[in-house]
Parts: sequence; structure tokens; C-alpha cells
Amino acid sequence: MPRELITIQTGQCGNQIGMEFWSQLCAEHGISKDGILEDFATEGGDRKDVFFYQADDEHYIPRALLLDLEPRVINNILASPYSNLYNPENIYLSKDGGGAGNIWAYGFSQAEKVCEDIFEMIDREADGSDSLEGFMLLHSIAGGTGSGMGSFLLERLNERYPKKLIQTYSVFPNNEEFSDVVVQPYNSMLTLRRLTSNADCVIVLDNAALNRIACDRLHVQKPTFTQTNQLVSTVMSASTTTLRYPGYMNNDLVGMIASLIPTPKCHYLMTAYTPFTSDKVEKAKSIRKTTVLDVMRRLLQPKNKMVSINPSKKSCYISVLNIIQGEADPTDVHKSLLRIRERRLAQFIPWGPASIQVALTKKSPYVQTSHRVSGLMLANHTSIASLLKRTCDHYDRFRKRGAFLEQYRKEDMFADNLDEFDVAREVVQDLINEYEACESPDYINYGVSK
Ligand code: GTP
Repeated sequence: MPRELITIQTGQCGNQIGMEFWSQLCAEHGISKDGILEDFATEGGDRKDVFFYQADDEHYIPRALLLDLEPRVINNILASPYSNLYNPENIYLSKDGGGAGNIWAYGFSQAEKVCEDIFEMIDREADGSDSLEGFMLLHSIAGGTGSGMGSFLLERLNERYPKKLIQTYSVFPNNEEFSDVVVQPYNSMLTLRRLTSNADCVIVLDNAALNRIACDRLHVQKPTFTQTNQLVSTVMSASTTTLRYPGYMNNDLVGMIASLIPTPKCHYLMTAYTPFTSDKVEKAKSIRKTTVLDVMRRLLQPKNKMVSINPSKKSCYISVLNIIQGEADPTDVHKSLLRIRERRLAQFIPWGPASIQVALTKKSPYVQTSHRVSGLMLANHTSIASLLKRTCDHYDRFRKRGAFLEQYRKEDMFADNLDEFDVAREVVQDLINEYEACESPDYINYGVSK
């Protein structure tokens, strides 16, 4: 029985990473740009129906909704070779077409106004699934649409589908350099509240780290969004391989989430991937020999993590799942785990099992790669609190100055007061406190006396 996932992509970033993701999935399952199964795709054994369904004429159609308040990105998708892949009924473009102007409040209130239209699409997709497992939201937390509309959808999905899982791939802004969105600290804070309260699992990707990895690994000076989005789509496809090529374990999202997220609130996961190669970049193609130990060791190195974190001496892993693809022997895995333990390469929480979980999965037979083994790490690590703290610091500075608030006050939910901001700040502070508490052996009693 397939456990289907519906992907909802919102705003520029959500739709652009979505576009890369679907092109990667098509390549891996032998599906052409028009959704037709290629003649060479005869291997079987994969579960296309988690992410695709078949139209009357047998075309594969992504279970995806493309939503935006401005037409540019979706129009680009519709002008691309993938224009026939998507279901045109699953596209929502605002009639005004002006975008959310980077204002979360506008994105949220616009989504509220067109909520019926959007949920019509979502319900139709949900009813078309045999055994829907949940939703995947792709968005940036910094702009107006992906953050505001994304936040609204998270709240409503939770109400309407309380038993379904909600996983997000959330792109955090680059806090290290002058940002392209001035009010990103406000938008991020308001979105983080919904990600904390309404999502089951948030895969954190941040543009600072993605740029750094693209520069280092792919040897490009100034990475374009297309290049960073290729990194994102590689991570997304690797993190869903166990769902698409089922084996003994982690065959559904709930199994993966349960093993990575022992306590509900601490559900922010970071990723690392190795080796990153790109067919488009000559130098990046040359990669050393890969063994399971090489891959597992590299996954633990800070430079391969796709988030910018500042671990402290007490920072530790709450859980780790390594998804290893390619020619990996279980005995190699066992030896590598022993070596990692002997060398104390990973520090774990003092109140739970200290072990790296490993899932061995198949590689797509249709996509040729030059390396034997590749790996993705999904990790729940307490140092994610440092990224959240940085967002809070930026927010606090802005809020103190009262900068740019008039744009938010134009929307009803901010007209009388700014309580929305204060509640969000509190929710994020509680989350930071909980991640820090995880570093102590008394975490087991955390919140008991509250
Ligand atoms: P409005 O433009 O206000 O309608 O909202 P939006 O959600 O469409 O905005 P957008 O998705 O552009 O969000 C802005 C943030 O996303 C900034 O931090 C950008 O750097 C980042 N961003 C935009 N497009 C991409 C992309 O394709 N890839 C990545 N990695 N980041 C992106």
C-alpha cells in the first residue's frame, strides 16, 4: 500500500526548489519531462506512487501543488520542458499577481482570503490518494509568500488533517551578509512559530551554508539559485529514497520521524550530504574513492552540514540517521560504526541511546554516478539552537527600533496590536530553551513541574 505524500510549494523559493526536485525524481524513476515512462525504465521495484499518480492516459503526474502570489516563477515552470508534467488544476496564481512584497502579514492574509480555492485542490489530491501519509511544504521562511502563505497552510492543514504528518523543507535566509529581504527577521520569527507548533518535522536548509558548500564543493565563485537548488534537490531526493525504494526499515515517513524525533517539539533536522558532484562543473566531478567509512566520517564533518551552526562544547546529537546509497555491505557499516564510536566522532545526548542509525538503500538504476557510495545524514542536533538564537538576535534588534512595522499594521491581524510577534518570540525562545535542556541528563524531567 503506497503511503502517499502531497507536496505543496509556495513562493519563489518553494517553487524553484520544487522544480529541481521534480526533475530529479523524474530522472531517478525513468519518467520523461512530459511524465511518460521511458522505454528503458523496466527495472521496477520502485514506488513511484508515493509522489506521482497516473492520469487516464498513463502519464505520471506529481502529487504537487504550485502556489504563488506572483506569476513569474510558475510561468517559468510552465515555459520549461516540464510544462506538461504538472496538473494544471493544481496551480494557484493570485489574480493581482503582485507577490506579497516580502511581507509575511500580506502572504498570510491573502492565503486566508483564497483558502477555499487552495483547500479545494488539497482535498482533491488527498481524496485521490489510497493511504495518504502527509504533506511536504517547500518554502523560504524569509520572503512574504512562502513564509506567510506557508504559515497559514501549516495552521489549517493541522486543523483539517490532524492525523496526517507535515514535513517541511524550510530555507532559512543568509544572515551573514546584507540580505535581499530587509524584514526577514520578522518574517522568519512569525514562520518559526508555525513551524514549531504545526509541523511534525522541519528539514532546515540555510542559504549561507548552501552557498558555502556550492563554493567549496562545486568550485563556483558566486553560486546561482539553480546551483544551490541542485544541492537542495539532491538532499530531498536522498531523504526520500527509503520511501521510494522500500527495504526493511524507514519505508514510511512516520517510521523515519519516530526514530529521529523522540520529543515532539525538538523536530528541526539538519542535513549533510557527500559526495556532492555536479555534471555541470568539471572540477566537481573528480572525487576520491568512496567507502562507507569515508562517507560516514565526512557526514559528521561540520563543513558538510547544510546549516550554519555554532556548536558549543555541550552540543550533542539527539539522533542521527545515515541513508547510505550504493555498494555498501552491512559488515562495512558495522565496522564504520565501531570506528566512529572508538574515535568519539559524534557526541550524543546523555539521556538516550547513543547510536547512529543506518539505512542502506538502492540507487536509481537510471542515473549514472561516478562514485560507489554516497550518503545523506539527517540529524537532530542541539546546536540548531544557535541558528534560532541568531534569528532571535536579529529580530530583537529590529523590533527594538520598531523598524518597518507599518507594513504589517495594514493587515487586520496586526492592526490593533503586535501580540502576534510577541507570542512568536516566546514560542521560539521556549524551543531554544528545550534544545539546550536536551544537553543535560535531567531532560527527562523537563517541563514536568511546569
Ligand atoms: P514574496 O516575494 O514576498 O512574494 O515572497 P516569496 O515567498 O516568493 O519570497 P522568496 O521565496 O523569494 O523568499 C526570499 C528568500 O528566499 C530570500 O532569503 C532568498 O534568498 C531566498 N530564495 C529565493 N529563491 C530561492 C531559491 O530558488 N533557492 C534558494 N535556496 N533560496 C531562494
